[in-house]
Amino acid sequence: MLITAGPTHEPIDAVRYIANRSSGRLGIALADEAAARGWSVTLLLGPTSLTPKDSRVEVVRFRTTADLEGMLQGRFGGCDVLVMAAAVADYRPKAGAAGAGVAGKISRKEGGLTLELESTPDLLGACGASRRAGQVLVGFALEPAARLLASAAAKLKRKGVDLIVANPLETMDAPEVDATVIGAGGVVAKTDGKMTKERFAGWLLDVIDGFARTRGSAGGGQ
Ligand code: CTP
Repeated sequence: MLITAGPTHEPIDAVRYIANRSSGRLGIALADEAAARGWSVTLLLGPTSLTPKDSRVEVVRFRTTADLEGMLQGRFGGCDVLVMAAAVADYRPKAGAAGAGVAGKISRKEGGLTLELESTPDLLGACGASRRAGQVLVGFALEPAARLLASAAAKLKRKGVDLIVANPLETMDAPEVDATVIGAGGVVAKTDGKMTKERFAGWLLDVIDGFARTRGSAGGGQ
């Protein structure tokens, strides 16, 4: 099982970056729980101070979207299940623009500074486009509650994945989760109120396992 977790840091210069508030806690809890259940787990983990407790989890650290892209290219083909819990940046400073990516530090000048951003590649979408038969792909959607389900269903199709875990915006950086899992046929499962990310990890692994067994793919066995 290949799990990604945590934020990305996109450098503006040698000392500054654009990031987000993801703690990585949910993906880390999933990695611990999957290892406890006998899965062989690799966790691609972004810049966060949290780490898994279970020493059987293989941890590989990334910093930028480009780092994570390279790691997925090398490892996605070999996994049975990909759980893409990382909060990947949608935009990053464009190389060479306004000093972005320079080896040094942009110094203060009067009159402000405009940063030019470029879109990042859709990493999960690229995995969805190159998937093998039998692989199970799980993505996440973090959206305002009002458009959560519609947007998750659209994401499922666009990225070519099996399941999308839809979380309301408030989940980021919070200790608890209240999620709905969407599949191609609609809602697959819904949590019964809020639960801790650690309890949610076990709940979600049961949902993934149930999905894989129903479909008869490799994801159902450990
Ligand atoms: N994701 C990814 N690559 C990106 C951005 C996101 O692989 N460049 C993954 C995330 O890890 C998550 C899923 O895609 O599993 C949903 O991410 P989100 O940012 O909510 O979706 P977007 O594709 O950016 O769509 P939008 O923001 O337009 O809703």
